[in-house]
Amino acid sequence: MRALAERVLQWQAEHGRHDLPWQKPADPYRTWVSEIMLQQTRVETVIPYFQRFTRRFPSLEALAEASQDEVLALWSGLGYYSRARNLHQAAQLAWREWRQLPDTLERLTALPGIGRSTAGAILSLGFGQAAPILDGNVKRLFCRHFAVEGWPGKSAVQQQLWALAEAQLPAQHCGRYNQGLMDLGAGICSRKRPACDRCPLQASCQAHRLGRVEALPTPRPRKTLPRRQCTLWWLQQGEAILLNRRPESGIWGGLWSLPQEDEQHALPPWLQAALAGPGEETLRLKHSFTHFHLHIRVRASTLSRLPRRLEPAWRWQPLDKLEQLGLPAPLRRIAQAMRKAS
Ligand code: ADE
Repeated sequence: MRALAERVLQWQAEHGRHDLPWQKPADPYRTWVSEIMLQQTRVETVIPYFQRFTRRFPSLEALAEASQDEVLALWSGLGYYSRARNLHQAAQLAWREWRQLPDTLERLTALPGIGRSTAGAILSLGFGQAAPILDGNVKRLFCRHFAVEGWPGKSAVQQQLWALAEAQLPAQHCGRYNQGLMDLGAGICSRKRPACDRCPLQASCQAHRLGRVEALPTPRPRKTLPRRQCTLWWLQQGEAILLNRRPESGIWGGLWSLPQEDEQHALPPWLQAALAGPGEETLRLKHSFTHFHLHIRVRASTLSRLPRRLEPAWRWQPLDKLEQLGLPAPLRRIAQAMRKAS
């Protein structure tokens, strides 16, 4: 099989983007401005801003000599204004020191707002040097192609990815190669529903071979969430089960669920009075919400007295018609388990 870089280069020539405003002409200054604008902003949004900005500040010198107010005014609407302040400050530093943007990784990354990947883009796309890039899209592509496990925000994973990026670098046409990686990462190896059947790297893609395309890159580890606890009462009367509609606010808002007790909420007095006994714990399960884990204990009991009339938020629901209601997911699991047990 041909080297990865060779396939990326050929794909870029045939399917990549060639008409982006910072590509014609591509010089170090224009590449730098575009890369900073593209850091947190989509290509389509950036294009008109880039055109206005470079018309007003066509060179490093023009930007270095502008007032901060004017730079910020031309950035207005793009957001993340520290990008503009850093850009302006870096232009002043570089102009004073070298009268041009520096062409080494060390000097570029010493300027405010320029990290290793942005420096790699400036060196390769702007100066025509062989330097790797590793922006979010390219990280995803490498994580998949080499089946790199672990969250890419972790420094060990990051190091591994930089080493892979270095190793794949072609000696020639590195700018076009890097542009191809970015185009592939954005258009083919997308986060959701990647277009593997159109990918020139499919045949060597480890994630594709292992069926791990959807699983990689490994997502950021979830923070440990607080744990809450509640008791749900399984109160069966013949073939019907007592349900309670959840308040509109809070978990399962507006859904029908089992009568619930937790740290903050007791059962209503009429129900407490009607319980035949403390019941029996029949089931434990855990359900995770975005902000906490809920540990659920299910208690089964019966009612010694049946209320003559139920308030509107309460009802006896035939067990074989549970599915007709909008039930919280754990309740479906509980109903299944209880059905099996009886
Ligand atoms: N995102 C970051 N850099 C880019 C570039 N040069 N072309 C397209 N999208 C990009």
